[in-house]
Amino acid sequence: MPKKIAVLAGDGIGPEIVAEAIKVLSFLNTDMNLGLVFENALIGGAAYDAFGTPLPQTTLNLCKNADAVLLGAVGGPKWEPLAHAVRPERGLLGIRSELNLFSNLRPAILYPQLVEASTLKPEVVSGLDLMIVRELTGGIYFGQPRGVHVAENGEKVGINTKIYSESEIRRIAHSAFKIAQKRHKKLCSVDKANVLEVTELWRSVMTEVGKDYPDVQLSHMYVDNAAMQLVRAPKQFDVIVTSNMFGDILSDIAAMLTGSIGMLPSASLDANAKGMYEPIHGSAPDIAGQGIANPLATILSVAMMLRYTFNQPDAAERIERAVNSALDSKVRTADIYSEGMTKVSTSGMGDAVLNALKG
Ligand code: IPM
Ligand code: MG
Repeated sequence: MPKKIAVLAGDGIGPEIVAEAIKVLSFLNTDMNLGLVFENALIGGAAYDAFGTPLPQTTLNLCKNADAVLLGAVGGPKWEPLAHAVRPERGLLGIRSELNLFSNLRPAILYPQLVEASTLKPEVVSGLDLMIVRELTGGIYFGQPRGVHVAENGEKVGINTKIYSESEIRRIAHSAFKIAQKRHKKLCSVDKANVLEVTELWRSVMTEVGKDYPDVQLSHMYVDNAAMQLVRAPKQFDVIVTSNMFGDILSDIAAMLTGSIGMLPSASLDANAKGMYEPIHGSAPDIAGQGIANPLATILSVAMMLRYTFNQPDAAERIERAVNSALDSKVRTADIYSEGMTKVSTSGMGDAVLNALKG
């Protein structure tokens, strides 16, 4: 049986970076006989323009029937005036929720070749290798009630709700503890339990689940402190587990530790390791269409797909090694460029990875 990958390039730089990832994956598919087939569909603003909705039923069906989803990015200024319900971002959130992709893995690894590209001092970031496990289908992103309405006094009020059930916390806790077991066995749960009752529950469920994993050292940290610690001494962390919105914010911070947000891949998994794979960066409309975006986060997302959904660790490692070799050869897209390097385009970087794979 061929394994089907739904390819959703999306908006902005999405199509450019996805093309490079597919180039790399297609080569491996043939070279290693992986039996993958690809099918494209529209999402986000591109889908809205064509069908009036950011998540057409055909796209959702394709994703449901596929073994994995590869996504570029969604959104852009063109669609900002739209009502929230049809914004491009809703397409992405819709897939996460409809496919039950509750466990979002965001590894932040500093490639030694990029130590100069980070805005932090080399001694603070060199050797950095941390994993953020973000809860992805609950919390304030999805909680009801939500919206803006006119109150009795005629004033407008806006509301979003941060809500977590014990079972939602428990399942992300198990994901995170299992990942920590395979790494350095340190898990830091990030919350705001000093202020928010919902995260007080979060903390107590984390502690309870921790009893099943006596080999993992569990700690707790408030989110404001965690943000500070990430830039002060990021190497103290092994695995961080946190709620949807805190994870969104902390993973952007973690990304900058690695030199560029263009380097961070992600996997969003359901209970059976079916997943959607996407770079954590957005659609970067300011540089879209110029061929200068960094495709490495998307290429590394494909490596995660091979590892987590298709159980092909060798293929995943081949991609990761090829990315390393490409960086060794001193080619750099603009976001990770520093003096003495060779500046390349999006496809130039894709080719460098491909050549390393072939070589
Ligand atoms: C991310 C993005 C998304 C999020 C947006 C595009 C909806 O920022 O994947 O981190 O907030 O989850
Ligand atoms: Mg984000």
